[in-house]
Amino acid sequence: MTDPVYVTDALIAEDIDAYLEQHQQKSLLRFITCGSVDDGKSTLIGRLLYDSKMIFEDQLAALEADSKRVGTQGQEIDFALLVDGLAAEREQGITIDVAYRFFTTEKRKFIVADTPGHEQYTRNMVTGASTADLAVILIDARKGVLTQTRRHSFLAHLIGIKHIVLAVNKMDLVGYDKAIFDRITLAYRAFASEIGITNFTAIPISGFKGDNITALSDNTPWFKGPALIEHLENVEIGASADETKPFRMPVQWVNRPNLDFRGFSGQLASGKVRPGDAVRILPSGKTTTIDRIVTLDGDLEEAVAGQSVTLTLADEVDCSRGDVIAAADAPPEAADQFEATLVWMADEAMIAGRAYWLKLATQTVSATIQPPKYEINVNTLDHLAAKTLELNGIGVVELSTDKPIVFEAYGDNRTLGGFILIDKISNATVAAGMLHFSLRRAQNVHWQASDISRDMRANLKNQKPALLWFTGLSGSGKSTIANLVEKRLHRMNRHSFLLDGDNVRHGLNRDLGFTEADRIENIRRVGEVAKLMTDAGLIVITAFISPFKVERDMVRGMLPEGEFLEIFIDTPLAEAEKRDVKGLYKKARAGQLKNFTGIDSPYEAPEKPEIRIDTTSMTPEEAADMIIDRLLG
Ligand code: ADX
Repeated sequence: MTDPVYVTDALIAEDIDAYLEQHQQKSLLRFITCGSVDDGKSTLIGRLLYDSKMIFEDQLAALEADSKRVGTQGQEIDFALLVDGLAAEREQGITIDVAYRFFTTEKRKFIVADTPGHEQYTRNMVTGASTADLAVILIDARKGVLTQTRRHSFLAHLIGIKHIVLAVNKMDLVGYDKAIFDRITLAYRAFASEIGITNFTAIPISGFKGDNITALSDNTPWFKGPALIEHLENVEIGASADETKPFRMPVQWVNRPNLDFRGFSGQLASGKVRPGDAVRILPSGKTTTIDRIVTLDGDLEEAVAGQSVTLTLADEVDCSRGDVIAAADAPPEAADQFEATLVWMADEAMIAGRAYWLKLATQTVSATIQPPKYEINVNTLDHLAAKTLELNGIGVVELSTDKPIVFEAYGDNRTLGGFILIDKISNATVAAGMLHFSLRRAQNVHWQASDISRDMRANLKNQKPALLWFTGLSGSGKSTIANLVEKRLHRMNRHSFLLDGDNVRHGLNRDLGFTEADRIENIRRVGEVAKLMTDAGLIVITAFISPFKVERDMVRGMLPEGEFLEIFIDTPLAEAEKRDVKGLYKKARAGQLKNFTGIDSPYEAPEKPEIRIDTTSMTPEEAADMIIDRLLG
């Protein structure tokens, strides 16, 4: 037997789902309510919970350890269980204000994601909507379609929610007037079609009085239904639609309890699979067939979208976490450049050019983002020019990953098209994204293999290439020591090249200044040039402040193991400022020079440099000797 399939980084709602699943075989509808308190959102949710009269109180008690309690805003009902956001994101240090509430009826069980309605909560709504099948857009009958109605609808559609309910609330306050309901429905239809929502169900309700919630109300004889709960119980959901698509299962982990068993565990993102089916492992493209479908309750004859299973394969093919097992005749694409919509969720703005972790299904890769093609004003839907995205900003960007990922367009498959971006240092989730399509650019630019290899070039020079990466504050002594190192190498007949910040900024990087984004681009270009030079067989020395750890690590990652030596010229700020060889600290202190490293721009010291030079205790000559020893010794 195999271990249970444990989906480590699933959403907490998914754990709860699994929990409820054990107790109830009813189908589950996840939905989101959009509106502000003024629209009667809490009243409606309270009403739904109250009218359904069935809460798994004892079962929910077991989940309390993982949640926190809140009042239910005026309702005397003691079931408001608040789970704060995505478990994965909570671990990654973001608190998202989404309350998930649970209730059930005879026919179905429900999870409602309740998110605050204001504009600044865009990220909350996106989080709540990310797993929802249906969105209830609340409108106050006295006010009609408002700016926020547009925003909520746009976001719901963007996230790929298929079912929209327009709940025209507070009908009791407008005398249950059919004309008012019709006018609002018509206005909404016009706007909805503009953003691509072709279908929605409009229901006149009163959350307060209970009209058209569980049953049709005598107050609206002109409304033929359905009542809200009836609609929620019957709307066709999720998995059944995904079952008709080609089979895909991202591999969560390789299950290998002993040498006789090797299974691949994960959740089917779409389609169905049976033993004997021909499958393709991506991105490698190797083909094989399914041998068994293993679960805790025994082998299955078939698994469908949404199910978590362990697959065994007929052949010993390479397959590991992050790979996708797919129908052999209809595999998804793999690519490394994309267009995507991003919703920025962090307080710190997006930095174009910086490398972030991109997590898509079970794949994690390094990704860099281009400046936005445009930002979308969520209220007017206008496209605006933008250089970055701030908290709650939504924009369309191009991004590239350091290796190909297996994906589908978000519109076709939310699992293989949706991703999050994670800051490499703080580990915080900074954005959620939806892939549109891959850019063919990279596919048509093929790497030109040359017959002369980097080893052959290095051998001819009788040396091992290396990149000596100096980092440290301005005036710390980088250039001085780097220059001495190069002179020593030259004397020893080594072929070298020194790239120095001040010099490169006169030529190749003349277009760059000292903003965070420009410094990142500066280091990226220098890294690429230095890498080409090591390919040529040279010992390359670079002397740049290179203040950010992420970019230094990025360059390290570009070179073969052991060829990148980080050399930290460790001069305290006070000392560098005292020397002030170029008089720049003085200018910076006087406010005549902005973004000066150490003064009003940060320097992130290396944690584990290969070589650390304490310039207060050794001369530049001693430092150069030490570096040469480490390099050639
Ligand atoms: S880096 O941060 O992008 O790595 P780089 O090493 O290329 O910086 O350039 C640093 C040199 O530019 C400094 O030694 C100094 O002579 C000059 N300089 C001019 N303005 C600044 C500034 N605002 N911050 C730091 N260095 C500056």
